[in-house]
This record gives sequence, structure tokens and C-alpha cells, in this order.
Amino acid sequence: MHVAVLGATGAVGRTMLEVLAERRVAVDRLTLLASERSAGRTVEWGGREVTLEVPRAGSFRGVDVALFSAGGDRSREWGPRAADEGAVVIDNSSAWRMDPQVPLVVPEVNGARIAERPLGIIANPNCSTIQMVVALQAVRKAAGLARVVATTYQSVSGAGETGREALRREEHGEGARGLKLGAPVDGSPFTRRIAGNVVPQVGDFDAEGWTVEERKMIGETRKILELPELPVAATCVRVPVDVGHSVQVMVETEREVTLDALRLALVAFPGILMAGGPEAFPTPLEIAGRNEVFVGRVRADPDRPRTFHLWVVADNLRKGAATNAVQILERLSGG
Ligand SMILES: NC(=O)c1ccc[n+]([C@@H]2O[C@H](COP(=O)([O-])OP(=O)(O)OC[C@H]3O[C@@H](n4cnc5c(N)ncnc54)[C@H](OP(=O)(O)O)[C@@H]3O)[C@@H](O)[C@H]2O)c1
Repeated sequence: MHVAVLGATGAVGRTMLEVLAERRVAVDRLTLLASERSAGRTVEWGGREVTLEVPRAGSFRGVDVALFSAGGDRSREWGPRAADEGAVVIDNSSAWRMDPQVPLVVPEVNGARIAERPLGIIANPNCSTIQMVVALQAVRKAAGLARVVATTYQSVSGAGETGREALRREEHGEGARGLKLGAPVDGSPFTRRIAGNVVPQVGDFDAEGWTVEERKMIGETRKILELPELPVAATCVRVPVDVGHSVQVMVETEREVTLDALRLALVAFPGILMAGGPEAFPTPLEIAGRNEVFVGRVRADPDRPRTFHLWVVADNLRKGAATNAVQILERLSGG
């Protein structure tokens, strides 16, 4: 298979190369694309040296699958062109996710949707949404879904290499002096200092006070689950963690279900690893580098019927991005 990666030098793109190698995807030819800044550099993959190129007309000719992780503008520009040149595009940006002609896929939840791709583009959902919908689909199978309220604790790598760099520099004391308390270092993608802080803003605010990330979690959850009326609310928070997003999910079910039955449904669901007991809860530091969705702290609400609380953790660069995209590629190639 001829695979292209657009954004091959970024946080997600580099992880995609790792995941392709780890899962022994049969890649006969690899095209690696990035910006002018990286063009000409070489990357070693699977025992071969691949030279980074800038995308141009013809870059996707002969490519079977193009994995995109170079931001929304590049996806809008190059997605249709790559599809015209014959590649199936699996896009990590938010550019195409809510387009009705583009399937938004988490293989464990709605993998069958991969087959319907009239534009030749398949979208990978938002990172926090992916890990949450895997857990929600398990709950849904056991007892249906009536309402979802989520709070996220999102790592800085969710904002790419510049997010990681901002945390590293602030942790080393850079920018702390002479600045207004709470101001970030120059070049930070965050609106506040992230080291030693908790910032309840991921993306810009809209007129109603919701952030872009919160709107993504609401809209994408409904699209993936094909429940357009499902009540969903989210509060998205950036925390000073390098890799791994955590999501606290309150879910109200449609039908009565015991806590034990719910736990069993989560254990049985593909792609979920359940904590063995309350003390075995997952944390981002412990699960970074893993491909599964980790669930712990599952509790029945003490006051509200059919209401449960779950702690859901996953590596945002893996299941939240690269692993999910490579799983889609594997399904496309019949794996
Ligand atoms: N980080 C996450 O957890 C996560 C999760 C899900 C989805 N995503 C999405 O995935 C995409 C990439 O995120 P990231 O975190 O990997 O960002 P990143 O670390 O900033 O990497 C961005 C990549 O895009 C490339 N790029 C930038 N401008 C370009 C241009 N004009 N032409 C070609 N390539 C260009 C960069 O190449 P150079 O190195 O040459 O500049 C780099 O390879 C974004 O759309 C993001 O929303 C990210």
C-alpha cells in the first residue's frame, strides 16, 4: 500500500509513523509531507530514509491512503485534491468532521460508516470526543443514553508541539518574571500560563460562552452516535500534562441498569481497559503511549436514578488521533 502522511513532522504525524510501524501496516511506499520548514530533511521509517516534501499538485497520485494532520487550512485545501488524485483521505483536523457527506468514524463505535465516503474523505473525530464516545457506546449497549455531561482535563500536546513547548518553557521559569500573573510565554497557544495552572478554555469562545472544543464535543458526539437530539454538555479544561486527556463523564441512561451490569458492559467493549477496583484508576502519566481507552471510578449517582459517573483516560496522540486514524486505514485495507 502507498501511504502518504501530511503533517508528518507534527505531534500527531510522528505518532502516526510510530503506530504504522508498531501495527506492521503493509506500507510499500511512504510519502511524507510537511511545510517548507521541514522540506528536504529525511526521516527514517521501517529501515528506509524518506525525504520530507511540500505538498504540490501530483503529490497524491498513486497514493492509496493519505493521513492528514497538518491543521484545518491544509485539510480544506489538500483534502479534495488528494481525493481527486485517487487517495482516500483520513483527516485529523476539524475541517470536514461535521460535513454531512463525510463520515466521522471511531472504528469500535461506527466503523461501518467508512464505506460511505462520497467525497473520498473520512474524518477522525476530536480527541476528547473519541475516548468519550467509546465509553458512551458501551453504556448505550447496556441501557441506552438519555443525557451526557462531561468535563475534560486536556493535555498540552492536544495543541501540538507548540503547546508542549509552552509548558516546557514555563516549567523552566521562562516568562514568569515581569509578566502579569497568569500570562503565558510568548508563542504559547494558550491564553494563560499553563505551568502550575488549570485553564477552562480550549479554543475560542462563542457568543453564548461555549468554546470551540466544547461545541465539537457536543456536535461530534451526536453525529458519531447518530443521536442528533441527545442532550450533551461539556466543559473543556487545559491542564499542565504533556500527553493524555482525562474526561469525567456523567451519563444518564434510558433504562434501569445495575452498576455491575454497566461495569460488565464496559469490560466487554472492544478497545476499553477497565480499572480493576477504585484504587486502580487510570491517570494520563501511566497510560501515555497506550492505544486503548482506560475507564475507572465507575459509580452510581447517590441521588439521581439511572445516572452514573465515569473517569475516562486516553493518549490523545494515539487513540485520540493517530491510532484511530490507523485503525480506519486498517479497515479500509480489509484488516
Ligand atoms: N494533538 C492532538 O492531540 C490532536 C488530536 C486530534 C487531532 N489533532 C489535529 O491534528 C492536526 C495536527 O495536530 P498536531 O498536534 O500534530 O500539530 P503540530 O504538532 O503543530 O504539527 C503540525 C504539522 O503540520 C505541518 N504543517 C504546518 N503548516 C503546513 C503547511 N503549510 N504545509 C504542509 N504542512 C504544514 C507541520 O509541518 P512543519 O513541522 O514543517 O511545520 C507539522 O508536521 C491538527 O489539525 C489538530 O487539530 C490533533
